[in-house]
Amino acid sequence: MNAEAPQNPTHTEFRRQDYRPPDWLVPAIALDFDLGIETTRVKATLTVERNGGHDRPLRLDGDEIQPLAVRVDGQDADWSMDGDTLVVAVAGDRARVETEVAIYPASNSKLMGLYASNGMLCTQCEAEGFRRITFFPDRPDVLSRYAVRMTGDKAAFPILLTNGNPLRTGEDGARHWAEWEDPFPKPSYLFALVAGDLKPNHDSFTTRSGRKVDLNIWVREADLPRTGHAMAALKQSMAWDEETYGREYDLDLFNIVAVSDFNMGAMENKGLNVFNTAYVLADPDTATDTDFDNIARVVAHEYFHNWSGNRVTCRDWFQLSLKEGFTVFRDQGFSADTGSPAVKRIDDVRTLRAIQFPEDSGPLAHSVRPDSYVEISNFYTATVYNKGAELIRMMRTILGPDKFRAGTDLYFDRHDGEAATCDDFVKALEDASGVDLTHLKLWYSQAGTPKVTASLDQDGGTAVLKLAQTVPPTPGHPVKQPMPIPLKVALIGERSGAEIAPERLVILDAADDTVEFDGLDEPALLSINRGFSAPVDLQVDRRAGELEKLAASDSDPFARYEAIQELMMRWLIAAAQGEVADIEPVIRAVGDTLRSNQLDAALKAEAILPPSEAVIGDRMDRVDPDAIHGARERLRAAIGARLSDELSSAQREGGAPGSDLSSRAKGTRRLRSIALDFLAAADAQAGARLAKVQFDAADNMTDRSGALRVLASLDMPERVAALEAFYRRHADDPLVIDKWFGVQAMAQRPDALDQVRELIRHERFTFANPNRLRSVAGVFGMNQWALHHASGEGYRFLTDLILEADKVNPQVAARMVPPLGRWKRFDDQRQALMREQLERIVATPGLSKDVHEQASKSLG
Ligand code: PHE
Ligand code: ZN
Repeated sequence: MNAEAPQNPTHTEFRRQDYRPPDWLVPAIALDFDLGIETTRVKATLTVERNGGHDRPLRLDGDEIQPLAVRVDGQDADWSMDGDTLVVAVAGDRARVETEVAIYPASNSKLMGLYASNGMLCTQCEAEGFRRITFFPDRPDVLSRYAVRMTGDKAAFPILLTNGNPLRTGEDGARHWAEWEDPFPKPSYLFALVAGDLKPNHDSFTTRSGRKVDLNIWVREADLPRTGHAMAALKQSMAWDEETYGREYDLDLFNIVAVSDFNMGAMENKGLNVFNTAYVLADPDTATDTDFDNIARVVAHEYFHNWSGNRVTCRDWFQLSLKEGFTVFRDQGFSADTGSPAVKRIDDVRTLRAIQFPEDSGPLAHSVRPDSYVEISNFYTATVYNKGAELIRMMRTILGPDKFRAGTDLYFDRHDGEAATCDDFVKALEDASGVDLTHLKLWYSQAGTPKVTASLDQDGGTAVLKLAQTVPPTPGHPVKQPMPIPLKVALIGERSGAEIAPERLVILDAADDTVEFDGLDEPALLSINRGFSAPVDLQVDRRAGELEKLAASDSDPFARYEAIQELMMRWLIAAAQGEVADIEPVIRAVGDTLRSNQLDAALKAEAILPPSEAVIGDRMDRVDPDAIHGARERLRAAIGARLSDELSSAQREGGAPGSDLSSRAKGTRRLRSIALDFLAAADAQAGARLAKVQFDAADNMTDRSGALRVLASLDMPERVAALEAFYRRHADDPLVIDKWFGVQAMAQRPDALDQVRELIRHERFTFANPNRLRSVAGVFGMNQWALHHASGEGYRFLTDLILEADKVNPQVAARMVPPLGRWKRFDDQRQALMREQLERIVATPGLSKDVHEQASKSLG
């Protein structure tokens, strides 16, 4: 670094232990918006109340806003600015504080606060966006009743929406206004406002106590035909939450708005959910089966937040998993109950292993309830969300469904209208069940994926299961305590293939332990961590042939999937390390799976899909991206060649039209493209021809993009033809153009980097739209073989993108950093190249605190 390199800025670190209740409460707020795309004026009237006996002034958070006026009880106030914070002297214990600001939605490229998207105005306030709209104690433990008045141009903003219920509307020449009120006190992060030219898909739902709720999904008129699936999912979610958790909706109106520029998936604002269009719009021609499933999942997730998040909210942002882990767990249950539970579980575990495990073993590792943060946006992570959901799942496994339900009932009842903590949640479960969960709470505070080893020693009719665990060190936490690890275990007879010891729950709560099984009348196979009962990295000592038998006979579908995956994994690791390993057991297991008449197509597809290159790398001491890529290619080619008959018939399997979204039809399509991928790996020429046929004949996006994905990695003339045809066919649909970019950024090709460089130069590429940016930069960051090219060019390219994106949207840019933080897992040369880029990021003048936190922590 040269001598003139700028000093790292120092950013405040917030600590969980420093929590203090707010000095001032705001029981009510009235907001008056004079809306404009370029300039919007916001008047706020806060009813403030001193909280406790102190004489501290009122401090109101702001971000990039200036007060135009400040009044206390109608008089010009005594105020000052402390950085971004407005400090107001208030003499009594209660006052009316008025402020006025101007904000500029069209130039708000961070997409936090009030911003413009496609001619409309919308807001995003979680976590700290409200302070970009008006001065306010912008923290989740300050709950207020909101009254909102919106005034704007009738033609530009025919629709005006905010939280709660509409009260009055009126016109004033070319302008009109609306007044709304939200009867439920809420924290500022749940505020929302939308103004624009939108059309509703209208429907209704009658709750079980007889409340008729008006439902609207607001989109641009042309998108209306693609809102049916989201609406159906919404009604299903409302019914499911009544049935499963006894939770009923509480307003007469529920609105969803689809926005094309959005930092995340969607947002649970009270009564007015705002969604990324990617999680609303779908029809079979433009959305894949996975898209349909994701839409239902996200609609359910945001709806479920109405209770887990809104009626009971978080005391502070360290408690984020209180709402997110629990709500993910709830949406997982919804998807399992409305689809295939086994496939859903496999999918969830795949996400956990692909994203959360690497996070938990890297420099950004943090616990489910973090101890500190610099920028809270950086903590909307797979750990808080997905590991948090696993933690709730373990509680349910230990308590059983009935006590768990009694616990959640007590939690909602006890804390309704409050801002609660993770401890409050566990306390409610304990009080309702009579079960002590103290030890389990370690999962909230200890980061790192526990490593568990297991072996089974059998002597005649008795077998002893030996278990041991270690919890690896994580940044700031070198020494760990043993965790309570709930493992579902059964024994399968080696000869009979039957369960010779029925499933039981073993809780490993010490560094090691043994469990005995008696009365066995044949050699036993160990089926362990069934259903992935604990989110651990489990290594089982296996005899030769054991995995193959479990792959064919395990009575738990998840464990059966695991056995096949582990068979492939062991071959892949050996091959990547240059060892000779026998591929026959893998071929037999995959072949048996394909031919099985017990398994449905969806399960077959999940089971035979080889682990991703990144997940293979995670299992090796040193990640060798080229060797891993080569090994995986060889495995795919061998399976494709040896099982071409089975794969070809799976690929040809006809049946349902693309409009059939039944589990059966979706499974058939999933298996079709996976089979195609194997066949193309064995014979590129024949594969390309077959893929082009599938592409041309497709009456749905699943088959079309499945074929395109295969073609994108091949060097065949069909590739260019298909990419061009796809682009032309869908040129008017930004969500499909995102897929077009993504398919190319994911391609497995020696020239992948040149290809993505070209994508960035494409006229439809932009840093301003998060979906588009992610479709190239986010996807490329997950393309292990391309990113980790030995030249280091992949790192340099990603870094260029991060720095460019940071100028536009720091939150989204920061989420592109983690792949570079994996440097410790690679060889010395790659380590040096990766660190060089992280250092380049940290040394960049004017860097956001979002990216700075991620990059500096990544340097370790
Ligand atoms: N709270 C949202 C969810 O999980 C996610 C989100 C966070 C959206 C921050 C926008 C900004 O449903
Ligand atoms: Zn959520």
